[in-house]
Amino acid sequence: MAIRPILTAPDPRLKAVSTDVEVVDSAIRTLIEDMADSMYAADGIGLAAVQIGVAKRVLVIDLDQKEGKKNPGAYINPKIVWASDELAVFEEGCLSVPEIWDYVERPARIKCEYLDSDGKAQVLEADGMLATCLQHEIDHLNGVLFIDHLSRLKRSMAVKKLTKLKNPSEPA
Ligand code: NI
Repeated sequence: MAIRPILTAPDPRLKAVSTDVEVVDSAIRTLIEDMADSMYAADGIGLAAVQIGVAKRVLVIDLDQKEGKKNPGAYINPKIVWASDELAVFEEGCLSVPEIWDYVERPARIKCEYLDSDGKAQVLEADGMLATCLQHEIDHLNGVLFIDHLSRLKRSMAVKKLTKLKNPSEPA
């Protein structure tokens, strides 16, 4: 169990395309525990391994944490095998994109195949927040941040703000 620092944009490591997990072993399960600890410590609802600098296709999501009840779901090598034509808009934020929230349109429903933390193949049909969250986190595995879905103007404003957060003394 360890809380690991979360990378924030702009950091080139967040652009890495993560590689598939070959074997779900104890090292992967430790990674999942560290990811969950890091996510809860940062008050997040989802985290991709690449956000703590490990470019492997592993996600942790917990959408119904409340009153100290924690139930993190692990998704290994997740793959979207179907997406609805119908779209949904949610306001998104990201632990790697601090202090920025904006609306992103994505398929409203998806079907996702993945391995669970026992290495067992699972299929999940998701809608609502979970569908959006899975798509947001799977984007991370491909080096994509939610601000990459915004207009060019909004995106460049976001990158400027993030750069300034990292280097407050530098002139704009
Ligand atoms: Ni994110």
